[in-house]
Amino acid sequence: MKRIGILTAGGDTPALNATLHGAAARANDAKVELIGLLGGFNGLLDREAPYVRLNPLFETIPELDSTLGGTVLGSSRRYVSSTDQAALDSTRQRINDLKLDGLVCVGGDGTINGMQPLCDLLPTVLAPKTIDNDLGLNCGVPLENQVPGDDFDLTQMVNYATPGFATAVYVATWGIRRIRTTAESHHRIAIVEVMGRHSGYIAAGSAYGQPDIILIPEAPVSITKLVDRVREIYNRQKNVVIVCGEGIIDEEGVELGASHATTDPAGNTVLSGAAEALRNRLIEAIGDDFFQQTGRVDTAERAIFTRKVGHTQRGGRPLKFDRYQGTQLGGQTIEMLLAGRNNCFASLQLGADGGFEVEPRETAILRDDDGVVHARRVHPSFYCCDTLNISAIGIEYLLPIFSEAIGADDVEHVRQSLFDASNLKEKYRSISVAIARRAEFVGRE
Ligand code: F6P
Repeated sequence: MKRIGILTAGGDTPALNATLHGAAARANDAKVELIGLLGGFNGLLDREAPYVRLNPLFETIPELDSTLGGTVLGSSRRYVSSTDQAALDSTRQRINDLKLDGLVCVGGDGTINGMQPLCDLLPTVLAPKTIDNDLGLNCGVPLENQVPGDDFDLTQMVNYATPGFATAVYVATWGIRRIRTTAESHHRIAIVEVMGRHSGYIAAGSAYGQPDIILIPEAPVSITKLVDRVREIYNRQKNVVIVCGEGIIDEEGVELGASHATTDPAGNTVLSGAAEALRNRLIEAIGDDFFQQTGRVDTAERAIFTRKVGHTQRGGRPLKFDRYQGTQLGGQTIEMLLAGRNNCFASLQLGADGGFEVEPRETAILRDDDGVVHARRVHPSFYCCDTLNISAIGIEYLLPIFSEAIGADDVEHVRQSLFDASNLKEKYRSISVAIARRAEFVGRE
């Protein structure tokens, strides 16, 4: 292979540049050109779109900094449809124009679905990323066949964790800790909403923030049970912190947050307002009397408040875990293409010794009978519906990721950079401007 294209698709995550960096480093070693396609699949579908050489003369460009959040290539939620012949023809032409011998897509479940038709056009592989941690299999069987049990073998999980997840949990955990002290001071009930769509991994990981209650989309919320638990905790400690995943459902299976059935270009429901909906239900079910009797707060409306961690979960510097694993996965994609593989992904596997290994896997293992990849959801073993918190196995799951997720340099970075006086004097320098200077166009070289 002489020339490989690479793109980042779907929602951004903090470790994308690290993954691109890992791919570029391996491409440099193999003396392969790495061409960055801008704006996700737009860079492949649009024949006029600019592209960027990520390793001219087999040296990685300085803009590609693995500690930088976001993606220097930009991203979009546009995908290639296998039934859109015109788009496929134009993509084929674009691949020829760019003289690509292989393609790396960095993305999640939407991307892996979108890359399927491309595999017929040229060898195509994927490096996983998503803060939602929903790309992979819990134990090789679909969720409906999974049952809670003590014999869960974590080494059997396919793609244990995705780059971006650890950093998202880190941000959510800080949010929860900071909310706690204000809830504690004012005897209030805080509902903190975290991202993750229909997968509760970020909510489960937020256990590190020691919330009193965690609600995940995989476990329907019983309002009666929740109210009992909230009252009990409030009576004891005068404050409650609840974390909820944005995709939580009630016992009838109704999404609490999806106020309107909007979908994004990938066909995903746009989720909003789970915490707010939950708050309304708690206000109604608990009532003002409960708070007035305690003499601490006048009304349920005043006592219960919500905060969304929001897009801060997706942004900023990636933690060491995400940087390191993202780099490994990026390097593995180039390895796979050089080894002649197609329709594969780089998978992060937990070894028996508790360390991680990066292995090539066929995307077929993730696909259902119709060839579709579905989002991985939290395994029932990881959550306890009685305590409304993660289970012992859930804790076991988190430890290998988070025990050493933060590097000393991550801590030092905060100390050195946050209140650096130059921040007050210098304007923000967007990486997009620097990348745009490197943009090239087919036919104008
Ligand atoms: O899939 C990643 C994710 O951050 C989800 O957790 C969230 O629901 C969604 O993307 C938000 O997407 P957007 O930024 O397009 O609104």
